[in-house]
Order: sequence, then structure tokens, then C-alpha cells
Amino acid sequence: MPSHDDVLGDITRQIQNEPDPARAMTATVATLKRTMADYSWVGIYLLNGNELVLGPFEGKPSPHTRIPVGRGICGAAAAEKATIIVDDVNADPRYLACSVDTRSEIVVPIMAGDEVLGEIDIDSDRLAAFDAADRKLLESVAALLAGRMAGQRR
Ligand code: SME
Repeated sequence: MPSHDDVLGDITRQIQNEPDPARAMTATVATLKRTMADYSWVGIYLLNGNELVLGPFEGKPSPHTRIPVGRGICGAAAAEKATIIVDDVNADPRYLACSVDTRSEIVVPIMAGDEVLGEIDIDSDRLAAFDAADRKLLESVAALLAGRMAGQRR
């Protein structure tokens, strides 16, 4: 398995070479899903008004294609404007189930200054799959995506 730094290098190059934000997001999701063995479901939600709307994803289709800010772990991360790592989703009352196989989750907001543009959501079938290295990787990826999306905002 490539190191977190290798994966960040690959994604940095992909985003730099892809001026279209939607394509940059799709490529990022694909690279994370392909290279990170524990990442069972990888998706990006985009904030539209007070709702998170599912954009590109890889993994089983999720029933949660629209999540109000404040609901679920996704909605909590958007409301708090901070990364949330849940080691055991079944022990977290906020959790909205996507797959019965999911055991842990990380949600990383994509921020432009103080404004939430969207978030990266990753589920794992392994308990406590996400650590400080995953947080660092995904917060770096979120910053790169925010830069790519900045020119497209309404
Ligand atoms: N588990 C998320 C919902 C999205 S699915 O995991 C794809 C949540 O609790 O907000």
C-alpha cells in the first residue's frame, strides 16, 4: 500500500492538472478509494443552502443523498466546521447508516475561509480505521479541492 504522502502527492498532481472542479473531485474520490485499503466508501458532499448533497462517490449506493446540516455525522461536521472521526459508528447516536458493514467514519469539511463548501466523507468496514495520518492527508486534500472550487462559487 502506498504511504499517505505518496497518495497526497498523486492527488496534488491530479488536482493541479484538472481545472474542472467536478472532474477534480471525481478523480480524487477514485484515487482515495483505489489506494487506501481501509476506505470502503469514499464520497464528497457539496453544501447547497442548508443541505449537503451527495456528489461523486465510490462504494455501495448510499440512501443519504441529501443530509441537512446538523443531522448525522456529516451534518455535525458541517455545523462544527471541523473534522470528525468516529471509531465505532454503532456507538455514536448521530450516525446515519449507509451500509451494515461500516464500523468507523471520518468526515472532513472542505472550507473556503470560514465558509463550508462541502466535505469528504469516508467509511471503513474496520473499527477505528482512521488516525492522525488520515486526518492530515484528508485535510490537505480538502484544502486542495477548496482551491480548485473557489473560482466556481456563486
Ligand atoms: N454516515 C453518514 C451518512 C452518509 S453515509 O455514510 C454515506 C452520517 O452519519 O452522516
